[in-house]
Amino acid sequence: MAKDRVFIFDTTLRDGEQVPGCQLNTIEKIEVAKALEELGVDIIEAGFPISSPGDFNSVVEISKAVTEPVICALTRAVKKDIEVAAESLKFAKRGRIHTGIGTSYYHIYHKLNSNPEEILKRAVEAVSYAKSFVEDVEFYAEDAGRSDNKYLAQVIEAVIAAGATVVNIPDTTGYTLPDEYGKKIRYLADQVSNIDRAVISTHCHNDLGMATANTMSGLINGARQVEVTVNGIGERAGNTSLEEITMILKSRKHLNLITQINPRKIYRTSRLVSTLMRMPVQPNKAIVGRNAFAHSSGIHQDGVLKRRENYEIINPRTVGIHESSILLTARSGRAALKHRLEKLGYTFSKKALDSIYEEFLKLADSKKEIVDEDLKMLAGASTRDIQRNLHLNKLQVVCGKGTTPVATVSLLWDGECHTSTAEGNGPVDAAINAAKDILKKKVRIEEFLIQAITRGSDDLGKVHMQLEHKNVVYYGFSASTDIITASVEAFIDAMSQVV
Ligand code: KIV
Ligand code: ZN
Repeated sequence: MAKDRVFIFDTTLRDGEQVPGCQLNTIEKIEVAKALEELGVDIIEAGFPISSPGDFNSVVEISKAVTEPVICALTRAVKKDIEVAAESLKFAKRGRIHTGIGTSYYHIYHKLNSNPEEILKRAVEAVSYAKSFVEDVEFYAEDAGRSDNKYLAQVIEAVIAAGATVVNIPDTTGYTLPDEYGKKIRYLADQVSNIDRAVISTHCHNDLGMATANTMSGLINGARQVEVTVNGIGERAGNTSLEEITMILKSRKHLNLITQINPRKIYRTSRLVSTLMRMPVQPNKAIVGRNAFAHSSGIHQDGVLKRRENYEIINPRTVGIHESSILLTARSGRAALKHRLEKLGYTFSKKALDSIYEEFLKLADSKKEIVDEDLKMLAGASTRDIQRNLHLNKLQVVCGKGTTPVATVSLLWDGECHTSTAEGNGPVDAAINAAKDILKKKVRIEEFLIQAITRGSDDLGKVHMQLEHKNVVYYGFSASTDIITASVEAFIDAMSQVV
């Protein structure tokens, strides 16, 4: 049976970026947009251009930097918004205006102080006006989840007649049940006479934790575009997550729905968005959470080591995660500890392993579960004490407002002292550049995480770093009250396994 194509409309840079504290500058947005292009999304909603000069500029710059996906700009059903959106899209190879208005009782009467007839008129006018600038116009019926189906169908039919190419049915408040949302999409697919001239899109929010279920129900009932965000970030409880929909469609082949997403880029994109937006991913988040492929109970560990499929429905490599992880508890033996340490890139002599095992048991007694991060800390501390032939000897950094950060790094490498000075875009970057200059190895930093242990300004900062060198991943750890020193030490810790 032929498979139906589902279009992935990514709104990480619009609905996702609306989250307090997640704002990105234009350079960061371009980095995310390029990652989304590599991931294979069909449409990037790049911003809401009328909302600020920064948003306008980001849509312009993303339109120049990204060529494969359609670039979409959001507007209200307001002429000025539409003009500004059209202007922001002038460099887009393929631009789309996404315009719309509220269609629920609440929005019509209590937000827009209007009535259903007036709203229908404004919807049609907005689409017609957008159509005078671009061919591709998407209409959203805000709060469609709580809108009357009959009225909604009337609006949708009218905007398609006015030229809408995509009709978005948002569950703006995350209120619907999967069955209800699916029936709404089915109703529109059956009752709107000209629906064959447009693609139906889902846009679900997660207020009741049902965004993914609702989106799936929409797809099963005829929608062929899904509006999603990386890591499910978005207003309030977030939007439908891109990685969940992608992997559902990939795993449940009987649905006969396919996307153009390259799943191997999922994890990397998730990390990038989390890091740039300073928005941690919850450990149990499906697909990309730290524990999504971690096994902790002895029975599961045994089962998964015998055959991965016993307890995993997705091979973690499919989404770009190197391995599943076996979590360790006080009941785990030395062999499990060794196995896990080796997976993390650490090898130890028997004596060193014995000493880590002692520490591991003490920690395992005080914690329910020893996660990878704890293990890296144990291994990091041990590698520093036991194995390393590479140490940070001295670090001097000059930085501050109005100066270019410069760092001088002195390393003790196989007993010899090597010094170098370099600049960077910040003190850590400068110091790492200086260290790289000494070590002369081509490495890529894949993850760099600084965590405060308690909350005071005198706190210890724990730094985890993940490097890639010749397709092998190396982990480094350090902790210090000086986070620049801790960062460089974590880098050196990882590099000591490379050199
Ligand atoms: O949730 C929503 O209704 C939206 C629209 C602006 C598409 O984000
Ligand atoms: Zn939304």
